[in-house]
Amino acid sequence: MPQVKVFITRRLPIELEQLRSLATVEVWPERQPPTYEILLKKVKEIDGLLCLLTDQIDRQLIESGKLKVISQMAVGYDNIDIRAATAQQIPVGHTPGVLTDATADFTWALLMASARRVVEADRFTRAGLWQTWEPDLLLGPNVTGATLGIVGFGRIGQAMPTAGCTYARRAKGFEMRILYTSRQRCQPELEQSLGVEFATLEHVLQESDFVTLHTPSADDTYHLISDRQFELMKRSAILINTARGTIVDPDSLYRALASGQIAGAAVDQGEPEPIPTDSLLLTLDNLIIAPHIGSASRQTRSKMATMAIANLIAGLTGDRLADCVNPEIYNS
Ligand code: GLV
Repeated sequence: MPQVKVFITRRLPIELEQLRSLATVEVWPERQPPTYEILLKKVKEIDGLLCLLTDQIDRQLIESGKLKVISQMAVGYDNIDIRAATAQQIPVGHTPGVLTDATADFTWALLMASARRVVEADRFTRAGLWQTWEPDLLLGPNVTGATLGIVGFGRIGQAMPTAGCTYARRAKGFEMRILYTSRQRCQPELEQSLGVEFATLEHVLQESDFVTLHTPSADDTYHLISDRQFELMKRSAILINTARGTIVDPDSLYRALASGQIAGAAVDQGEPEPIPTDSLLLTLDNLIIAPHIGSASRQTRSKMATMAIANLIAGLTGDRLADCVNPEIYNS
């Protein structure tokens, strides 16, 4: 049995032979994540941790063990205290890039479904309410030719506008006018080739028929969309969130949708997550809620798991992680 030990906080959709030849592997077998107390106990016995965005990897946990590597199977890492890991010289891996297209596809699925009221239409039909063809039945806005506002144009935590490009390419296919706002403006050549216009958040909110959120979860994006931002939006606008639940104030979202301040929303996240079953949001017909499945294509999840294992192995063998959130540890 290899002396090196790793803990993987959920079953993964790939085989683990290579890892098993290097380390003793324990995989958490339940559908629910291990509790914080279990993680705290495990971290004292292991060299490497492969975790998911549902696991709280905070300072206490990081300082309780002697981890050589933390490998997260997700692009986002707001569940991990990166500063604490860096202070302990622990590399943190993540899985950027491979899920950009799958998430953009799902964003588009939500946008189309919300605009054309697909979920409402399905409920309507199943409820036996389809009696005839009606000129004004379940009307929604045009997607083709509409204005799309992209909030956050980079790949999470990085200045590369790969994700923004992915959304813009899809929007181009629908002949949309595309506005974007971002911490960092793209090069004019890129803006021109994508056909996108840079604008302030206020302007994006005021002008767009569809607003789609792609910022990371951070202190300065917490409740970025609250009452004031909803007030700026068109009454016919639709909000899409496939980024993180914390970006939208859930109470403001409820008020905006219930009062008709905006026409609809579709979200793949919540705050908290999962959304409590007694949340008022669940009573709204003009809201589509998905259980955080943006990257859930079979191929993408398997690529994410493969990358996460590769990062884990690199950390265990002392190699540089291919996708490291805190590469500064390699400078010291
Ligand atoms: C999913 O939300 C991810 O960050 O990978």
